[in-house]
Amino acid sequence: MPRVLAIETSCDETAAAIIADRHVISNIIASQHVHHTWGGIVPELASRAHVERISGVVAAALAEAQMHPSALDAVACTVRPGLAGSLVVGSSFAKGIAVRWHLPCVPIHHLEGHLLSGFLADPKLPLPSVVLVASGGHTLLFLLESTSQYRLIGSTRDDAAGEAFDKIATLLGLGYPGGPAVEQLAAAGNVRFELPRPLLHDPSYEFSFSGLKTAVRRLLASQPTVDEQLRADIAASVQQAIVEVLVAKTIRAAAHFAAKSMVIAGGVAANRALQHMMRQRAEQLGIPVVVPDRQYVLDNAAMIGLVAHIKLELHGPAIYRKLDFEIDPTPWRIHRHGAGKHQVYDAAVFSL
Ligand code: KG4
Ligand code: ZN
Repeated sequence: MPRVLAIETSCDETAAAIIADRHVISNIIASQHVHHTWGGIVPELASRAHVERISGVVAAALAEAQMHPSALDAVACTVRPGLAGSLVVGSSFAKGIAVRWHLPCVPIHHLEGHLLSGFLADPKLPLPSVVLVASGGHTLLFLLESTSQYRLIGSTRDDAAGEAFDKIATLLGLGYPGGPAVEQLAAAGNVRFELPRPLLHDPSYEFSFSGLKTAVRRLLASQPTVDEQLRADIAASVQQAIVEVLVAKTIRAAAHFAAKSMVIAGGVAANRALQHMMRQRAEQLGIPVVVPDRQYVLDNAAMIGLVAHIKLELHGPAIYRKLDFEIDPTPWRIHRHGAGKHQVYDAAVFSL
């Protein structure tokens, strides 16, 4: 039963987990509150906070699993995409442990972690599955055929769904991260503003959310006074618009590809309105909607450890002993192959 220590530090969560045989033994996440006062993530503060926390977080993951590093079979870490300084902290720490304990170290793509996080909720996830990965930086729709075969069928042309929540939260005077704040404010509001639903009726699986932010800016500017109820009504209308587009495209993809399940992953999957509408619409298709636990939809190391397990099963540990990989902070670019009507990309979308 291979035991993997996984480390995730791509953004503002310092996270470590122990995964044994695809089961989560421990999952520690330390969120950085230092960014709240700045209204967004400050990269330099993020890497410093990772340095301060990483050893404590890893020690806590081992302690909770009642495990000594000598009992590990491998280490894994996120190497892309993300903030350069933050990725360096986690990957250097992982390599250090690998050297000290003579372990292989598996470099992992953060988005592959989100994509496969459905297996943490249901190890027997019915396949093929349509997976919506909606995070702060990406909105991606995948067709998952097996743990090692997937196709990207759609993505956003501009802002990601989480980014739209975050930017609109700022316009509404809410803090960072914006998604949970908008959701909370929306609970007291009514959906009464007609906001754009970009590409809703477009036959592709592409998304576009930047127009929504502009529409909210105009709406706010056109109001004589902006009181608490108006802000709540705007929050509710924004949430409805984003959720409706995400749900419509995911459901359409599930029907088109005859999926046996759907997964919603990434930070935005924590949104209850999204979960609720997806489940409601999925009933007509008669297939389950799998939503990983909150601790596995927001950034976490358990999903990184899960992908490491899958890679180790596929390729064996020997190729991961060299430790010569590097981090890559550049935004993720899609390897496009034969884009057709539905922009289907190849299975090697996460080649590192
Ligand atoms: O996956 P994640 O934790 O980090 C990235 O890889 O980006 O996603 C963070 C994003 C942020 O944009 C945040 O506002 C959004 O997920 N988010 C939410 C909710 N919780 C987090 N969006 C809508 N509703 C929520 N409850
Ligand atoms: Zn993420």
